[in-house]
Amino acid sequence: MSQRGITGTGGALFSDDGQDGLMHRAFLRGGGASAEDVRRTPVIGIANSASDLNPCNKGLAHLVKEVKRGVRDAGGLPLEFPTISISEPFTRPTSLYLRNLMSIDVEEVISVSPIDGVVLMGGCDKTVPAQLMGAISANKPATMVVAGPRPVSCHRDNTSVTVDDAWPMCDRRRVGEVDDAEWLEFEGNLNTDVGTCNVMGTASTMAAIAELLGFALPGSAFAESTSATRREIAYQTGVAAVAAVKRGTAPRDLVTPGSLENAFRTVTALGGSTNAVIHLEAIAGRVGQMIGLDNFQEWSRSTPYLANLRPGGSETLPAIEAAGGVPSVLTRIQDLLHLDERTALGTSWAETLAAASDAPTPAIAERATPRAERGALVVLRGNLAPGGAILKTSGASDVALTAHRGRVIVFDGLDDLNARIDDPDLDVHADSILVLRGLGAVGAPGMPEVGHIPIPAKLHRQGVTDMVRISDARMSGTSTGTVALHVSPEAAVGGPLAYLRDGDEVILDAEAGVLAHCVDPEEFAARQPYRAAPGPTRGFASLHIRHVLQPEYGCDFDFLRDPGAPGAAPLPA
Ligand code: FES
Ligand code: MG
Repeated sequence: MSQRGITGTGGALFSDDGQDGLMHRAFLRGGGASAEDVRRTPVIGIANSASDLNPCNKGLAHLVKEVKRGVRDAGGLPLEFPTISISEPFTRPTSLYLRNLMSIDVEEVISVSPIDGVVLMGGCDKTVPAQLMGAISANKPATMVVAGPRPVSCHRDNTSVTVDDAWPMCDRRRVGEVDDAEWLEFEGNLNTDVGTCNVMGTASTMAAIAELLGFALPGSAFAESTSATRREIAYQTGVAAVAAVKRGTAPRDLVTPGSLENAFRTVTALGGSTNAVIHLEAIAGRVGQMIGLDNFQEWSRSTPYLANLRPGGSETLPAIEAAGGVPSVLTRIQDLLHLDERTALGTSWAETLAAASDAPTPAIAERATPRAERGALVVLRGNLAPGGAILKTSGASDVALTAHRGRVIVFDGLDDLNARIDDPDLDVHADSILVLRGLGAVGAPGMPEVGHIPIPAKLHRQGVTDMVRISDARMSGTSTGTVALHVSPEAAVGGPLAYLRDGDEVILDAEAGVLAHCVDPEEFAARQPYRAAPGPTRGFASLHIRHVLQPEYGCDFDFLRDPGAPGAAPLPA
């Protein structure tokens, strides 16, 4: 088909009276649309990440019917398209490696297609930030419906099985407490339906962020994946997508300093995932902004931790859903929020919260009696992490470890770690600090969730369950321990971590926000640094290692950030 003469953009191409309109309508008619269908307006693309390779998002294949019904009932024409999907458990070496690629896919299809707006359908951890980043850069009106969590299930005498129950089960299997029959039974009981992880992990955290940034409907984060409520949310998101186009609300109107602060404070109140820091900074960069470590630190310090949800608390997601979801958390921290920011319905948060429930619930602590006075995410800085590091203090088992000085044992990558960690001759003590380097955004590549270094076997046998650990890697939202993560700059790009040696003294002080070594600066700088093995030389992996930024820039590619954002690639002269 000739592109000559195309003048319109978006859905206007379908109503063009000349050649362009004819050809656009004729091609859709060939796909089964009626003469009436092809004249509907606005045209709403539906970016669907349903995939057999991503069971968390698989339910979107059915949910999309409701979105289409909503778009049609509001007068629009829904046109679904597939996108890359990224599964946490299935993607090697790590799902973050593909987040930016998925964002490019989403951005470009939205940008080049004859659509006026888009509904994003994501769920599993990285798919939500990837879709948001892509849609923000494309800047056509965008709404989002997430896959929703899988139902809580049962296994023998445990009647509220969630994904984090897998770890103790694996530990029991390792020491011979689980026979083959129970192991097989548990495999069938852990996930009894499609949907995202049913705890306050990264997927739930990102679903909440999508609400606060004005893409997902208020209160939509936690309804179960195949519930009637989830189907109604999908339908209403289709309706809202048409309204967003009619209002002319574009993503750049939604992602503001105020909505970014609201989003992070909500993550803090929910006790959400450390990954949120990376994704929010990447999202900010797409509109030329940078949140910065000082803001993260200040917002975390001044926001109470309220949600009592697994894995950090005792309740499951249905409990917070029954209490009203994200808005019911927000009612308790209203004074900390920018209430004039917009929801996906075009209303202000002030209007939304006026109608939200603040009834007492075991899922959310009251403001007067928070689970912690300050948020669980602490920003660390110092001569070992000039670009920052993150510590989730709610994960630390012993408060003494969050103010600790000790000698380090350094592991260069996973092979070295696996070869030596359980060696009976390893010179390690309970107050040693374990360092794992070479696993940052460039080094791995993609910052795998391996920062949770196992306790050496000989200490484990002595009853040691937590030690200070430091890494340029990430850690799963379902893991715990005193682990300083996301150390920046990472070892593979010559950050200070690359110069550390066994026996060096290091200080971790969560209260003061410090991560520092005590080596003489001149001696330190004169050392031979750790050198990563040569990286890939072709394909996406090569593109990734040449352009991925450090965590304080959200691990986005330099050429994907808005040109006005710190860390963005310089414009051609
Ligand atoms: Fe997909 Fe947890 S593995 S949401
Ligand atoms: Mg995860």
